[in-house]
Amino acid sequence: MAGGWFETVAEAQRRAKKRLPKSVYGALVAGSERGLTIDDNIAAFGELGFAPHVAGLSGTRDLATTVMGQPASMPVLISPTGVQAVHPDGEVAVARAAAARGIPMGLSSFASKSIEEVAAANPQTFFQMYWVGTRDVLVQRMERARKAGAVGLIMTLDWSFSNGRDWGSPAIPEKVDLKAALKFGPECALRPGWLLDFAKAGKIPDLTTPNLTPPGGTAPTFFGAYGEWMGTPLPTWDDVAWLREQWGGPFMLKGITRVDDARRAVDAGVTAISVSNHGGNNLDGTPATIRVLPAVAEAVGEQVEVLLDGGIRRGSDVVKALSLGAKAVLIGRAYLWGLAAGGQAGVENVLDILRGGIDSAVLGLGHSSVQDLSPEDVVVPPGFRRDLGIRAEASAIRR
Ligand SMILES: Cc1cc2nc3c(=O)[nH]c(=O)nc-3n(C[C@H](O)[C@H](O)[C@H](O)COP(=O)(O)O)c2cc1C
Repeated sequence: MAGGWFETVAEAQRRAKKRLPKSVYGALVAGSERGLTIDDNIAAFGELGFAPHVAGLSGTRDLATTVMGQPASMPVLISPTGVQAVHPDGEVAVARAAAARGIPMGLSSFASKSIEEVAAANPQTFFQMYWVGTRDVLVQRMERARKAGAVGLIMTLDWSFSNGRDWGSPAIPEKVDLKAALKFGPECALRPGWLLDFAKAGKIPDLTTPNLTPPGGTAPTFFGAYGEWMGTPLPTWDDVAWLREQWGGPFMLKGITRVDDARRAVDAGVTAISVSNHGGNNLDGTPATIRVLPAVAEAVGEQVEVLLDGGIRRGSDVVKALSLGAKAVLIGRAYLWGLAAGGQAGVENVLDILRGGIDSAVLGLGHSSVQDLSPEDVVVPPGFRRDLGIRAEASAIRR
């Protein structure tokens, strides 16, 4: 891997910043509006402390778990992201790294690689869908994923089409043509390592979405697909239950932050939820996911698998999330920085960093398994929690 092994996710991000053209790096940083949520996702983990033991510690630790019936060598999954233009092998490199480290892969329907290629690289692939297009089209996409070998479906709902960021949005071309080459040429020329990766692979960055290709048609561009999404009537809870029923297998709802919504997801028959605010890319001002996790896990943790994503940058963050009720976490930017820094090896490096950090924290907390983590292991400052959707629930009961 160019630049060699790195020791933290922060270092992977520094390398990604140096290696990627400014617009590509900016698309991964993303965030929205003032960036309150993206910042809080990370800051909130820093507010939590640990309550470690010092003697009688366990010489071996079991980090394994299962998510939606799939074994995971540690409680970490790949969260679905569209990684157009980050690396020529894109999601296939991520899927290979996840398979090499024994963890499931979430593939975005807006991804740059097809479900067929990705599921071949990692048989533990969950396919992610937004509510885009008609019910017939949604079923076609879902059936294609099933045929390709997807072992679960992730439905992501937390998107409200907010746009604009105070630090500026990256310019992204509709497609890579001569006009785009002239416009983006100068910033790409400053990143010879990134250019060389694509030249060696004989590819140009692909800004299409092959998993949204209509039968017999061509893959829409990223913006074409986004336009279709904006034009689709918004889904109801009945639509969620309908999609879950059509799929009939393990089904995760991603984007829950409130207790009342978590209960509705249970009623819709989901297998799992991810407490998520889309990595702070959506409605700015939504609290960090780790602040809203405890109330959601207390409410529905016995009925469905509760996962969390948002702000995970180290193994100790994973352990904090598990202590407060998550069964496992999904990571987004952490692996994107690894992919940008070193392709498949960079993603493996990130996963190894997380594994080492989880192991250290479980050791220090005096446990022999991630299953033994509990709220007793973390120091939660007063006022940390945000219990969302509880009052609405109480008043609904009163009515
Ligand atoms: C560049 C980027 C693209 C994303 N694309 C998707 C997507 O296509 N589908 C989805 O469900 N979530 C998407 N997400 C959200 C992630 O799955 C995940 O919720 C988020 O990145 C977690 O926060 P973290 O980046 O702090 O780990 C995206 C996130 C980023 C940063």
